[in-house]
Amino acid sequence: MGMAGKWSPSGRPDRNVSRAQFPPDFLFGATSSSYQYEGGTWDDGRRPSIWDAFTHAYPERILDRSSGDVATDSYHLYKDDISLVKNLGMNAYRFSVSWSRILPYGKLSRGINQKGIHYYNSVINETLSQGLTPFMTLLHLDYPQALQDEYGGVLSHRFVDDFRDFADLCFKEFGDRIKHWVAINEPHTLSRGGFAVGDLAPGRCSGNARNWTCDVGNSGTEPYIAAHNQLLAHAAAVQLFMDPITKGDYPESMKQNLGNRLPRFTNEESELLKGSFDFLGVNYYTGRYAMDQPNSNVDPRQSSYLTDALINTSYRNSKGEPLGPETAAPWVRIYPAGLTKVLLYIKNKYGNPLVYITENGVPDLGNYTHSPLKATPNDNIRVSFYQAHLSSVLKAMRKGANVKGYMVWALLDNFEWLTGYTIKFGLYYVDVRNPSVRIPKLSALWFRKFLKGNDRRR
Ligand code: NOJ
Repeated sequence: MGMAGKWSPSGRPDRNVSRAQFPPDFLFGATSSSYQYEGGTWDDGRRPSIWDAFTHAYPERILDRSSGDVATDSYHLYKDDISLVKNLGMNAYRFSVSWSRILPYGKLSRGINQKGIHYYNSVINETLSQGLTPFMTLLHLDYPQALQDEYGGVLSHRFVDDFRDFADLCFKEFGDRIKHWVAINEPHTLSRGGFAVGDLAPGRCSGNARNWTCDVGNSGTEPYIAAHNQLLAHAAAVQLFMDPITKGDYPESMKQNLGNRLPRFTNEESELLKGSFDFLGVNYYTGRYAMDQPNSNVDPRQSSYLTDALINTSYRNSKGEPLGPETAAPWVRIYPAGLTKVLLYIKNKYGNPLVYITENGVPDLGNYTHSPLKATPNDNIRVSFYQAHLSSVLKAMRKGANVKGYMVWALLDNFEWLTGYTIKFGLYYVDVRNPSVRIPKLSALWFRKFLKGNDRRR
């Protein structure tokens, strides 16, 4: 790893990028998510989520057989997290609410856990008292296992009603202070990983997936049903992807290619979906090459982030040239130019909506994990990554993209789903054996200087 590989034409680190080039009210923040950070899985009335069930039922599907049982222990250390965000000079913090903590049995009718409500009130109040703008995500790949057991979770239309109740509860309890809501984080990730490949919770798949045999689902239809119900859940919550939430329907090509496998919206649902957002959250990590293969029958199980099939075909062009430098995660190639492209695509195709970049980050090998750390970990790759991507954001903004904020993934090294603690995205190193140890990496120092000025590393 390291800085091997050419950055051009994919974009190169811009050592001159500076805070002053962004508008004064631009938001810079860091992102976390409940299962990946909180731990405290059994504390104060929380009940299992699909991720608790999945990591304990299928430990072999997580690269290091780990779980988020303790994670970065942010349930207990949230004040430390928030002060780290503040110390970086940031002005926003995005975190998610664990549905299982406030509605342990999933349904409103089965009881609210006041201790869970109290916890998020504390997180929000601490965030505000540090002068940070809070962004709250309602569903970040993690919902109560009770709903999975009862009716298959997002495979059932009943999920839409339960999500509406959960969202409504959050709006009532936290809406006086939270003005930025992210309804559902990466619905496609839950649909693909949870219902086609089985490498993410709830682990449904059929046939031979990566390195296990799995016959609990129907990979041909379930991912689309899961996505469909998440879209409806989103619409129900805002009630009041892009095509469904802007135009109220799937793209024509998708309807033709998938035929009966794609659920249909009723007219009423379509109306609800249209324009059902105030801003778009963009999570950007990498690019992919795509090929025009209209009639191919791609097996979604082959699309695990860790299979060679996906990696070999997506990250090299027809001449065999790589998209960009490799990183510690096989599914991330560094391609900063893609961020400019995606922002301009959104601007041109969807009428220039307000955009927050809700995640952007790069994994490092984290070789330092297994030895006690004293020195600052040298994650030069991350410094260059942020320099290049911030510059890509500026390019898009100069061409008119309506971007108002940028958040890093991640503040801390944390539980990274299918790769556990082996792959690290944090600006801060966390010792998994003792999560209260948080050591700034070079990238944290760079970010602080970028935001507060005076970066001597240039
Ligand atoms: C996006 C997801 O929202 C986040 O949970 C995950 O850790 C990062 N991608 C990195 O894979």
